[in-house]
Amino acid sequence: MRFTLEQITPKEYAGNVIFLYGNEVADRNLPLNKKEIDHLKKRRKEDEYSIVVFDRLPYHLYVVNFNAEKLASESQEKLRRSAHKVVSMLKDEKQTSVGITGDGVIPEEVVAFMEGMMLSDYSFDRYKAKSPAHIESAAVDSTFLTQDELDRSLRLWNRIFWCREWVNLPVADLNAEEFASELEDIAKDLQVKCTVFDKKKIEALRMGGLLGVNKGSVDEPRFVVLEYSPADAVNQKPVALVGKGVMYDTGGLNIKPDDYMREMKSDMAGAATMASVLFAAAENQLPVHLVALLPMTDNRPGFNAYAADDVLTMYDGTTVEVVNTDAEGRLILADAIAYAVANYDPELLIDAATLTGAAVRAIGTYGIAAMQQNADNPFNLLKIMGNQVYERIAEFPFWSEYDELIKSDVADIKNCGIAQAGAITAGKFLARFAQKTPYIHLDIAGVAFFSKQQDYYAPGASGYGIRLLYAFMQTYEMTKNNQ
Ligand code: BES
Ligand code: ZN
Ligand code: ZN
Repeated sequence: MRFTLEQITPKEYAGNVIFLYGNEVADRNLPLNKKEIDHLKKRRKEDEYSIVVFDRLPYHLYVVNFNAEKLASESQEKLRRSAHKVVSMLKDEKQTSVGITGDGVIPEEVVAFMEGMMLSDYSFDRYKAKSPAHIESAAVDSTFLTQDELDRSLRLWNRIFWCREWVNLPVADLNAEEFASELEDIAKDLQVKCTVFDKKKIEALRMGGLLGVNKGSVDEPRFVVLEYSPADAVNQKPVALVGKGVMYDTGGLNIKPDDYMREMKSDMAGAATMASVLFAAAENQLPVHLVALLPMTDNRPGFNAYAADDVLTMYDGTTVEVVNTDAEGRLILADAIAYAVANYDPELLIDAATLTGAAVRAIGTYGIAAMQQNADNPFNLLKIMGNQVYERIAEFPFWSEYDELIKSDVADIKNCGIAQAGAITAGKFLARFAQKTPYIHLDIAGVAFFSKQQDYYAPGASGYGIRLLYAFMQTYEMTKNNQ
């Protein structure tokens, strides 16, 4: 979808028009007669978020009702969802272009609607002989935003698309080495420094978690460090973004049975998310010093694969008893977190990981299971931003009792606890490596990849979390004022 800015007057516009209607119904700018206005009023009364379609053959006028009086975050999310519905209607009519304007609507609401259209129009077409239909062009009324504002949003949405593309690619077409070199290529074009550690370097660094998980693989692991360090950064010490990059999770020797293996190409969504956030921040020149640390490998039951009972020595010297080779994410993340703490002394460390089925069982596919240690202030801001962009976080407890569950008889800790509280013991495992560094853990297992359409998210990779973390970085300075 290509967005352009134009003047849009529905009464004169030769094409499909979407009219965002946040006001009491009046006929000011609408090409409607009295009867049609009455109909619109009635529909709006029945459902304040109804979409009312008028034939203006050969085109259509789509009046999107919404209640501008509601909480901004709520009406914006409603608009994203309505956008998805209108996009589906346009596609049903085989239409590929549309104009957008409105009344009683503020720029943020127009942008939310555009965002819904954009996110909804994505599909993973790479392997299809014939791509499904897309909206080619959308002309937005230039009274609502400037070209620069549009460009900033487009850059963010473009990053979400890139993230989805990576996550949707099967491991056969995107292994650790290939993913690392993709990131390297992108970093070159931006103000981003990229360092890629190959297996030799990872061995020299003694990242026992990443090497352990990689043992069964025929592909080498990679460890990618991205750094965006703007001159006007509001933070002296960087914010570290750690992302789980399991290119494919078979479970390893504790192999995933039946359908449980499906969709595990998405197990690198954390790394894709963090890379995308950093790139978007760099492209839009947000004043925040960021470092992304992305450990990458697949998890397979090869001949030399790591096994339950193995003891791994992590980057920071901690020994870990492997109880289950399918709890691999925390092993590679532990090395990345320890590496970040030792080498960057970050003022805040956030990780994103498709870490546990337990997180999905706990809250389903409607948000991120989040935990924090020593990071009340940034966590609160992240929560507010989550509600605002509607990529929400739900805080799980992080009581010290959970630490008991990962004590090991033979090593310092073990890589999984009991059947209960699995999302939390996974988070606790990671938090240990963050030590005193303010730490936020985001378990995105429920939201990174949707098996079926969910609102404006098409089936497959969602890019969920990028808008959240970008909004957080945009307002990051606020964590300073309150301290
Ligand atoms: N990648 C999975 C978690 C996952 C499950 C993500 C479902 C998305 C959807 C992770 O590596 C895993 O297998 N976790 C195990 C941990 C267990 C062995 C302690 C799990 O959640 O079952
Ligand atoms: Zn696993
Ligand atoms: Zn995994």
